[in-house]
This record gives sequence, structure tokens and C-alpha cells, in this order.
Amino acid sequence: MAEYFPDGFLWGASTASYQIEGAAREDGRGPSIWDIFSHTPGKVLNGDTGDVACDHYHRWREDVGLLKELSVGAYRFSTAWPRILPNGRGAVNEKGLEFYDRLVDALLEAKIEPWLCLYHWDLPQALEEKGGWPNRDLARWFADYAGIMVRRFGDRVRHWATFNEPNNVAYRGYGEGDHAPGHRDRAKVMRAIHTINLAHGHAVKLLREERPGLVIGDIFNFGPRAPLTDREQDIGACALSDAIMNLAFPDAQVLGSYPEPIRDEMAPLIEDGDWHIIKQKLDYFAFNHYSRSRVRWDKDHLFHFARVPPPPGTPVTEMGWIIDPAAFRQVMIDCWKRYGDLPMYILENGAAFRDQVIDGKVHDAERVKFLRDYLGAVIDAAAAGVPVKGYFVWSLLDNFEWALGYDKRFGIVYVDYPTQKRIPKDSYYFFRELARGAPLDR
Ligand code: FCB
Repeated sequence: MAEYFPDGFLWGASTASYQIEGAAREDGRGPSIWDIFSHTPGKVLNGDTGDVACDHYHRWREDVGLLKELSVGAYRFSTAWPRILPNGRGAVNEKGLEFYDRLVDALLEAKIEPWLCLYHWDLPQALEEKGGWPNRDLARWFADYAGIMVRRFGDRVRHWATFNEPNNVAYRGYGEGDHAPGHRDRAKVMRAIHTINLAHGHAVKLLREERPGLVIGDIFNFGPRAPLTDREQDIGACALSDAIMNLAFPDAQVLGSYPEPIRDEMAPLIEDGDWHIIKQKLDYFAFNHYSRSRVRWDKDHLFHFARVPPPPGTPVTEMGWIIDPAAFRQVMIDCWKRYGDLPMYILENGAAFRDQVIDGKVHDAERVKFLRDYLGAVIDAAAAGVPVKGYFVWSLLDNFEWALGYDKRFGIVYVDYPTQKRIPKDSYYFFRELARGAPLDR
């Protein structure tokens, strides 16, 4: 059956600075927490780092060409704070700004709308040395950085996002510790959550003051979860994990409160006037979605919850993430009900599979099927009334997948790292047809 997407549906592709740029020590860029973390033995699989990544810093022209050929209406990228402010604050690095000038201008010239995300995890190391996100001062310093960016790019970039997956910044960076800066401290997670919410609020306020008419949001992350059993402990663990991983940011920013399971723990961190800052009007509701999971109580865990691997035989991606498009449809419906009628954008969805280059081609049938099924869920959600306005695939390119280094490939374009050759996969051509207006066949 051939089905069409809503009129004006926006097709896009997403990337992130540290995952693709490389040029880690070039043109005055300062170190980020990910440089330090990835260079610490044992932190990233195979000792991989983002030093070179996809060398996008030098190959941006070719990458914009790939986007143009893909026929997408938008490209979501992030700007590296340590390229702009090598010490996190203070002296601005003009060369860093110039790199994004070139990129933004090339995108506009190719008729691709730039969607600029201010923070995709590469905090300047200098600010980690001042305590990182658990330090409330970072909220103001983030807004200062946002101010520099909007004064430079606000004339050309209309779509802005403050953070990518603030939940993972707080939880994985300061709780699980498998992401930079690698702490394992429950109190730090809670403090980071609040600082990031404040940072978002200050930044949105400032962007609007500097330039009315911008379209501003935050990029949340939703992975629905269910308790492993109906035992009270599992139910409680699941609710806490839902509060931290799914609700702590959108609830705060849209509803102006923390979800019940963390409310008491957050209370001492909230100062007078904080809600007024945090709860800024958003122009869109955006989130990333990959999978769903099951949760059980775990007495040894920092938060007493643990993710349970899927039962044998469950369809999973190369990440071990459950493939379940119906869960995606449900997330869109649930978000719409909980957060209201804002235009909804899916700013990341995609999958890693073991890709192989055969005769210069990559026939990634599993990824094509994944995208087809997940895009079917988008059509279903739209039919149920969800105002879903666009879908951005993760990712344009294979790239540095954080703690898993270059081992996992999420791109619709294959990157041969030794030569930096880009090879569009079958999924790229599949996506291109849709972006050009073809209906979804399912
Ligand atoms: C998301 C991140 C993105 C990428 C994908 C696979 O959580 O935002 O950078 O790593 O997962």
C-alpha cells in the first residue's frame, strides 16, 4: 500500500560536531570533555577518538553535496562550544565561527535549512574543571555562548535547539559514567539535570531577546520502558528510570515541574525564580527515539534500576536495541497528549547494522526495512492526529559512536575511515525517494 506523508512534511538528516568534525586541535579549538575521555585508556572501544572522525571539518563541502543530492529540506548539526570558546568562556575564537559561517552559507546556497543545535555533548574541558554541569554557574555560561552564536548566525539560521538529549548528558555523563566526563555520582546527576534545565531557559530567553522570530526548541529523548514484573520494586525502579531518562527535561521545560519520582530529590536544588526561567515557550517539540526497554530493580545500582536485555529471539539492531515501530508510534501519541499541540519533529531515528561494502556498494537491506517500518509509524501517528511535521534520520554519515567508537555504523552514507571515502548506502537512495515526495510503500 502506498501512503503519503502530510503536506509540507520536512525531511532531514542529523549529525553532531564531535562525532564527525575531527580537526580536534585545529584553528584554535580547545579540548572538550570527549577529547579527554576518549584519550583515557579503557573508556572508548578500541581506543578510538574523535581526533579525525569523518574529517568533516575539511570535507564539509562534499558532505553538503551529499545532503543536496539527498534532497532533504533541512540539516541538523551541532556547533562545538570549544571551537567557539576554547576555554568555555572569555576569548572568542574567530576561526571557529568562520567554520560554521562556511557551513551555514553552503547549506543555504543548497536550499537546505540549517537546524543548529548548541550542545551535543562536547563541553569545553575548562568548564568540567569548574565542576561541569553539576555546577549551577554553567547555566549562565551556556547562555553567554548561546548569545555569541545568535549574534553571529541569527541572521541566517532560523531553527535553533539548545541541547541534544540532556538526559544522557546528565545520566550517562555523571551517573552511569560510560560517557564523558565519566562520573558516577547520584547527587551530580540531579544537579546536572537542574543546571541544564536552567541553561536551556536562560538561552531561550536570550535568543528571543536578541532576535525575535527564531524557531526554538530542545531535543529530548524518549525510550519507553516497562517493568520486568509487576512486583512493586520493579514498578518503582521503572518509574524512577522513566522520570530521569524521559521526563525530567520536557516536564520541567513544558509543564514547569519535575516528575513525581524525583520531585523530593530535586526540591533542595530549586531556587526562587527558577521555574520562571526554565519554563520558556517552545516553538516545537522535538525528540530522538531509538528503542524501548524493560527495567528491573537492582540493589547495587546508583539509582536501583537496571535495563534488562531483551528475551532471545526479539528483533534487535546491532546495538542490541529492540526494533519495535509500534512503540515509536505510541511515543509520538503519548508526547502529544502529555505536552500538547506543539509541532512535533523527530530529530533522530535510525539504526546500526553490520554494513559491508561489496563491489563498491552497500546493500543495507536491514536499515531500509527499519526506516520503512519506523516511517510507517510516523504515518500512523499523523493519522491518529499527532502534529508530526518532520523526520530527521540519524545519521547522514557513519561516525564516532561515543563509547563504542567507530564500531557501530548508523549512517545512510558509509564512511571508509582509512580513505574517508563516502559511499551512499541503499538506505540513502531509499530516503532520497521519500524526500523527493514518493509515497511510502508498505
Ligand atoms: C543518540 C545520540 C547520537 C547518536 C545516537 C545513536 O543518543 O544523540 O549522538 O549517538 O544516539
